[in-house]
Amino acid sequence: MSDKILVVDFGGQYTQLIARRVREVGVYSEILPFDAPPEKIAALAPKGIILSGGPESTVETGSPQIADALLAAKKPVLGICYGMQALAMKLGGVVEPSDHREYGYATVKLAGSDPLLKGLTKEGAELNVWMSHGDRVEKLPPGFAAIASSANSPLAAMADVKRKIYGLQFHPEVTHTENGLEIIRRFALEICGCEPSWTAKNIISEHLDKIRAQVGSDRVLLGLSGGVDSTVVAAMLHAAIGDQLVCVFVDTGLLRLDEGDQVMSIFTKHLGANVTRANAETEFLAALDGVADPEGKRKIIGRVFVEVFEREAAKIKNVRWLAQGTIYPDVIESAGAATGKAHLIKSHHNVGGLPAKMKLKLLEPLRDLFKDEVRRIGAELGLPPDLIGRHPFPGPGLGVRILGEVKKEYADLLRRADDVFISELRKQGLYDTVSQAFAVFLPVKSVGVLGDARKYDYVIALRAVETVDFMTARWARLPYEFLDHVSRRIINEVPGISRVTYDISGKPPATIEWE
Ligand code: XMP
Repeated sequence: MSDKILVVDFGGQYTQLIARRVREVGVYSEILPFDAPPEKIAALAPKGIILSGGPESTVETGSPQIADALLAAKKPVLGICYGMQALAMKLGGVVEPSDHREYGYATVKLAGSDPLLKGLTKEGAELNVWMSHGDRVEKLPPGFAAIASSANSPLAAMADVKRKIYGLQFHPEVTHTENGLEIIRRFALEICGCEPSWTAKNIISEHLDKIRAQVGSDRVLLGLSGGVDSTVVAAMLHAAIGDQLVCVFVDTGLLRLDEGDQVMSIFTKHLGANVTRANAETEFLAALDGVADPEGKRKIIGRVFVEVFEREAAKIKNVRWLAQGTIYPDVIESAGAATGKAHLIKSHHNVGGLPAKMKLKLLEPLRDLFKDEVRRIGAELGLPPDLIGRHPFPGPGLGVRILGEVKKEYADLLRRADDVFISELRKQGLYDTVSQAFAVFLPVKSVGVLGDARKYDYVIALRAVETVDFMTARWARLPYEFLDHVSRRIINEVPGISRVTYDISGKPPATIEWE
């Protein structure tokens, strides 16, 4: 097992990012809350510890503190922002609410002699960094020296090189900080002495061994959605246990144009995996007939999904395990370390309620991986880049992108319009510049002219957003020429649509989906 870095979460917005950056430099990292029990920390046996930022103020009573168990192991420590202030307090320094808040870009002057920051800038130049703090360290704890200063924080970074304890007032994990990843690399590899062995190849071989040991000669059932996570789980399980894996793909009839066929062709032709397709469009549409309420639609789609999945699964004999595409952010968020939103999202559509009822053991081979790692592994396992780089697609599918009642006619129109939008984004090299893009069907008719006649047809809204975490999002500034081209193509090629609009709402207050 590889060397590990523990990231201690004080509730900062960048905690996950810190853990991802550590993994980017090739070292496995895990996040634990600041009040994790000492046994958990001991079980992890980290070679180094990073303390995250946090929204609170160390000078207020009751604010989160550094547990004794974290320092007792005498491993190298790096405190970032709140983490630095908490370190200063814990070790005998002084922190004060600052009159000099710093948010955004700042420059720091490096002292230049410590293993963490030395030589990161050219002689005499300052380092561009990202700051986000109110309090600041006023007096260093005994044994520490200042290793960087900014106009507003004379003690912008501190070190006790002998004990290998470091503090940074700025955020090395965000890309705005110049050489930020190099700082993380130096800490993990040079100061903690970790081996950079967390690579896609090693992750795969480690996971394949683990899966084989776990399931032995049992059969494993997997529900495919066509999304990145379940596809990578399938590829990984297929590599590990071949024909012991059986996949069920429920075609809800609420998928994108030709998506069902694409999923089948990837799995059967490309991977040679054992996949059953359940064509359930009629069943889904019948259950949704006449239902316009968004929550009602979601519930029905979830229920029918489970029914169809269970029916198909019952035909497969001797299955002992149910595999799921849970990934690390779901695990962290459901543990309450962050907002809980991603967890809610998953429980909506994944086969969440199944294992207990089906008496199957749960297998979650991606449980310790971030999305970017899942993608890298997928690529390493030979999955096509187009598929790995796909935007997220909601479990209830077009059910949440057709407003009001769901009808086949609407779904067909939406599929064609969406396909025009997405294929143009791909063709013009814009697909990867946005985080998510799709069309929405509005069941209202507006007037248009076709030749000399007036006609009343439906409206399509296009939505494209840029976001890092899907909690907040900015509408994508797609070029007018591009939008014009897509709009013309949709109106010309999709009879039944006479108007196309572009959604210019941010999240918040709007959400990404329209429901
Ligand atoms: P909202 O609309 O809440 O969406 O801003 C945030 C992200 O979540 C996706 N989403 C879902 N994903 N099942 C999913 O797997 C769902 O029921 C669901 N609803 C929304 C949405 O596409 C966006 O990426």
